[in-house]
Amino acid sequence: MASQVLVAANRGPLSYDLSADGTLDARRGGGGLVSGLSAALAQQPDALWICAALSDGDREAVRRGVSEPGVRMLDIDPAVYDDAYNGIANSVLWFTHHHLYDSPRTPVFDARFREQWQSYTAYNQAFAEALAHEAAEGARVLVQDYHLALVPGALRELRPDLRIAHFTHTPWAAPEFLDMLPGDVREQLVQGMLGADVVGFHTTAWADSFRAGARPDEERTRVAVFPLGVDADELRALAHRPEVDEKLAGLREEVAGRKTVVRVDRTELSKNILRGLLAYRELLTVHPEWRGEVVHLASAYPSRQDLEAYRSYTAAVRELADEVNAEFGTPDWQPVLVSVQDDFSRSLAAYRMADVALVNPVRDGMNLVAKEIPVVSEAGCALVLSTGAGAYEELREQALTVNPYDVSATAEALHAALAMPAAERADRTKRLAAAATALPPSAWFEAQLTALSR
Ligand code: G6P
Repeated sequence: MASQVLVAANRGPLSYDLSADGTLDARRGGGGLVSGLSAALAQQPDALWICAALSDGDREAVRRGVSEPGVRMLDIDPAVYDDAYNGIANSVLWFTHHHLYDSPRTPVFDARFREQWQSYTAYNQAFAEALAHEAAEGARVLVQDYHLALVPGALRELRPDLRIAHFTHTPWAAPEFLDMLPGDVREQLVQGMLGADVVGFHTTAWADSFRAGARPDEERTRVAVFPLGVDADELRALAHRPEVDEKLAGLREEVAGRKTVVRVDRTELSKNILRGLLAYRELLTVHPEWRGEVVHLASAYPSRQDLEAYRSYTAAVRELADEVNAEFGTPDWQPVLVSVQDDFSRSLAAYRMADVALVNPVRDGMNLVAKEIPVVSEAGCALVLSTGAGAYEELREQALTVNPYDVSATAEALHAALAMPAAERADRTKRLAAAATALPPSAWFEAQLTALSR
């Protein structure tokens, strides 16, 4: 049966691992897109989510006809997929939108880049064709993220009857960074996006960057802001499951009554984990009164390990954490506890015991963690938040805000956050939680459907 509401995203709600004995184990991937969409689509039983097979396990699932209801995985040729996902989406487009290039060396747009761009085009075309095939007459289609920037334009060609929205979960590059792309590629990217009726972003800052670079005719393509928030009831229920209680008991034992500075991220270059550790080191140097009194719980679970830049970043995070522990640690106090496991229950347990939440990305579409921790923290937490996070727009007034490059200012903000009186912390946390839950996933999704109905 053809669908009235369709979502297209590179990542699906679940991905499968193929074990040696041939069984398939489903697991949920990290990141804001999956959290937000999974929560929103739980309220949309008839919607169809089209995603890519990410792994051999996923390809095997497609072959065996294993899938979640309401999900269709596309089995794209692995070499094409690798070029599109690792080569273009996560290298070129991610680095462009997050301003991560190190310009003396990168980017390099050469013959290999052109091959990868061909693959990216083919991968986007495969999504457009699948959507065209599955969509009912006049259906509404919500295309997600930089992986699928060419889909709106390609789908418009195939099915002019459809109403198409594109939503970007990342920042949008400032014009001078978009201009680093070869001219024809930049043009294809912009024209692909402009095939949509509505182009959505988390914040006005990213919407304005898009306007400045793409110069849309807003009679044809509306640019709109839908700041994704969290569902307080659902998140609190998740955070109070028995397995989280168990992890919490374990963490409490390790922390032994000390204060906590909590961060939870994919090990991701844009999250600025290294400068966060440098700031914590400076805190312990400049404010020695915190030695032995605080533990930094840093959960940095692996991400995109096919890319060398991510592998070396992950190694650098571990090394720096080890250095801080070697410099300050004592037999009964380990200053930093790094966890590199993708363990959602442990993260929720850390949220519950957070006294301070550290969210200091250099540039980040939203950063849902900044919204989740205040909702779940038990005694109330002070939020140290960088100006580069999308969440800054909504949370700035109740957070301690920092320039993400200013390590000394971040150290001072950590000090102020740790020293904040309990009553002020509780009061700010209440306001942070209210702002964080203003547009929960189901309302965020509905707002986009409504924008398409106009
Ligand atoms: C960001 C992107 C998402 C992506 C997530 C995790 O939040 O906006 O589209 O799913 O990172 O990255 P991954 O490459 O593992 O899907």
